[in-house]
Amino acid sequence: MSTRRVLTGITTTGTPHLGNYVGAIRPAIAASTVADRESFFFLADYHALIKCSDPDQVQRSTLEIAATWLALGLDTDNTVFYRQSDIPEIPELTWILNCSAAKGLMNRAHAYKAAVQSNEDAGEDPDFGVTMGLFSYPVLMAADILMFKAHDIPVGRDQIQHVEMARDIAQRFNHNFTELFVLPEARVDDNVAVLQGLDGRKMSKSYNNTIPLFEGEKKLKKAINKIKTNLLEPGEPKDPNDSTVFQLWCAFADEQGIEDMRKAFAEGIAWGEAKKQLFERVNEELAGPRAEYERLLADPGHIEQVLRQGADKARTHSAPLMAEIREAVGIRPMT
Ligand code: TRP
Repeated sequence: MSTRRVLTGITTTGTPHLGNYVGAIRPAIAASTVADRESFFFLADYHALIKCSDPDQVQRSTLEIAATWLALGLDTDNTVFYRQSDIPEIPELTWILNCSAAKGLMNRAHAYKAAVQSNEDAGEDPDFGVTMGLFSYPVLMAADILMFKAHDIPVGRDQIQHVEMARDIAQRFNHNFTELFVLPEARVDDNVAVLQGLDGRKMSKSYNNTIPLFEGEKKLKKAINKIKTNLLEPGEPKDPNDSTVFQLWCAFADEQGIEDMRKAFAEGIAWGEAKKQLFERVNEELAGPRAEYERLLADPGHIEQVLRQGADKARTHSAPLMAEIREAVGIRPMT
C-alpha cells in the first residue's frame, strides 16, 4: 500500500484535559509512529479566533497545546507539526475556495444551524451573534485539509460533516479547474474511548466535568476523588459497566489490569480504594510527561522554534501547491 497522509487540527482554545488525551492526543501520537504513514498535526489558531476574542488566551492556549503534544512524545522529526497561522497559503486558499464553495452547503453546517436554532428559540434574529468566521468555518477547514493533499482525517463524530464538506469543495474545484486536490476521508476510531467526565456524561469543557491532564498531582487526585459513584458500601459487589471509575481505569490499564479490577468490583472493592488505584495508575502514566510539560512551558522560545521549523517543513508542500492553484484559477503574471 502506498503511503497515506494523515492530517488533523487542534483548535487552540482551552487547556487539554484527560478526555482530549485519551480520545485524541494519545491515539494520534501512537498512529504517527506506524510505517507507511505521514502525519501532519497543526494548531488551528485561526479557528480559535472564531470562538475566542481574548488575545492572551489564544496565545496561551496555543502554547499549552503545543507543549502538551511535545511533552507526550510527539516526534517532530517524523511528523509535520505546525501552527496554522504560520502558513500564509492557508488563508490564501481559503479565499479561493470561498469563491466556489456553495453558500447552500454552508447553510447546512451543524454548528451554524445550531446557532440559528438557538436564536430562533430565544426569539432573536436568526443570525444574532453569528460571524462570517462561524459561517465559513468549514471552508477554512477545507483549506487546511486540501492544502496538504491529506487522505485520512482523524476526527470526532462532530467533525465528520466538515470533512465531507471539504471533499465536496475539492470535487467542485477539481471539476471546474484542474485536478489538484486529493479527496479526503474522515476517520473515526471506534476503538478509542470517549471518556466520561466527573458526572458520568462525556468529558467536556462545556459540561465543566473534566479531569485535568497536567495541572499537578494534587489536582489530579482531587478530581478523581470527585468522580460520581453510587452509594454502595465496601464489601457490596459493584457493577463495572455502570461506573465512570471503571471506564477510566480501562483507558489506562492493560488487559490483565482490567480483569483484576473487574474482579475487585465483583468482590466489593470500596470506592475510595478503587479511586486510589485509578489515581496511581493515571499518575504513573502522566508523571513523566507532566514534568516535561512544565519544563517546556518555562521555555516558550524553544516551542516557538519547534513550530517555525514545522512551518518550514509544511511550506515545502503548501507553497508549490499554492503556485499551481493560482495558475489554475488565473491568478497569473502577465507574461
Ligand atoms: N474543527 C476541528 C475541531 O474543532 C479542528 C480542525 C481545524 C481540524 N482544521 C482541521 C480538524 C482540519 C481536522 C482537519 O475539532
